[in-house]
Amino acid sequence: MSLDVAALRASFPSLASGIAHFDGPGGTQTPAVVGEAVARTLTGPLSNRGTSIASERNAEQAVAEFRDAIADLLGADPRGVVYGRSATQLTYDFSRTLAKTWSEGDEIVVTQLDHDCNVRPWVQAARATGAVVRWLRLNPDTAELDLSGLDEVVNHRTRLVAVTGASNLLGTKPPVAEIARRAHEVGALVYVDGVHCTAHAAVDVGALGADFFVCSPYKFFGPHCAALVAAPALLESMAPDKLLPSTDEVPERFELGTLPYEIMAGVTAAVDFIAALAPDGGSRRDRLVAANELIDEYELGLRRRIEAGLEALGDRVVVHSRAVDRTPTLFFTFPSHDAADASRHLAQRGILAPAGTFYAYEPFRALNLPVESGMRVGLAPYNDGSDVDRLLDALTEFL
Ligand SMILES: Cc1ncc(COP(=O)(O)O)c(C=O)c1O
Repeated sequence: MSLDVAALRASFPSLASGIAHFDGPGGTQTPAVVGEAVARTLTGPLSNRGTSIASERNAEQAVAEFRDAIADLLGADPRGVVYGRSATQLTYDFSRTLAKTWSEGDEIVVTQLDHDCNVRPWVQAARATGAVVRWLRLNPDTAELDLSGLDEVVNHRTRLVAVTGASNLLGTKPPVAEIARRAHEVGALVYVDGVHCTAHAAVDVGALGADFFVCSPYKFFGPHCAALVAAPALLESMAPDKLLPSTDEVPERFELGTLPYEIMAGVTAAVDFIAALAPDGGSRRDRLVAANELIDEYELGLRRRIEAGLEALGDRVVVHSRAVDRTPTLFFTFPSHDAADASRHLAQRGILAPAGTFYAYEPFRALNLPVESGMRVGLAPYNDGSDVDRLLDALTEFL
């Protein structure tokens, strides 16, 4: 069984534009069923949550289905699924809430591999409480985290370790389970930024050892929003700032204001869309795992073709995505050209491969690269061989 890419592409009205989208790590295109679910929910009878009438029940159902869908996607408990506007917003909210229990002498660990979303909120929360920030360093030669000092960096003073499931710049997938094992040995919590990895892997938050795991559905065919999962008991132990009349129930305690039911319905539709890529049979969770295996295998084939094409360009391109374990996201620089010029050249030919830092501020510094000097090519399952040929032809022409 392999992915039916032609059928998959036909589900995305936007692909009729002819653009070859290599900007999946920035946000994927959206299948029609997701847009339809949003419109159907928003224009159907819809009120605030309740049980007395259909419009109230529709809102209730959208929330319940959203929690079930995210729980199936991540191998989590639906009672621990928190809705958020973005991963950045959720991470700021959780950093501020967790920091209420930190004090001088406590330590927080962040990494040089992470998007700034999983760095700055922790650094700023630590600064506000007197906690010390410790770093897991990125080795620029291997594009992997240097874990040689893990037992010293993560120690009995550590309260929290924030680490990415995969780098949105380099694709590197660090050994989260190994880092989490050490964190738990010393009683620290683990906050995993799963925004990039969720689009490319069947996530199992338990196997990862993530106490908190955040993802953004707009990176996997859904609407622009985010979700965080944690054990309900852990959420119960936390005291976010909230309005007095709003419920103290978990997970609602963390969800400020009225929820966007139509967006939540769109997320459920996106998860169902992914599950439907797998052969029939089994639970939705089983189908999500199987679908992700198909996606992974398909994207790996395309990634290898791009890597071979870049290698053929010799020293005109330096590929920085070198980690052994990584997503199909390639970051490269051009020793003799500006990446923004390269990106413009591609755009004129209907190919979107952006140049920039992608908010991966710390990895950029660790790689010692000038800002805006690189190009990122990320794959989504709707990319096909023709997209890859166009990309490589246009790059060869430019260089
Ligand atoms: C790895 C990673 N983390 C966090 C974010 C921020 O996500 P959001 O836009 O939902 O705040 C991004 C966005 O590109 C990302 O790629």
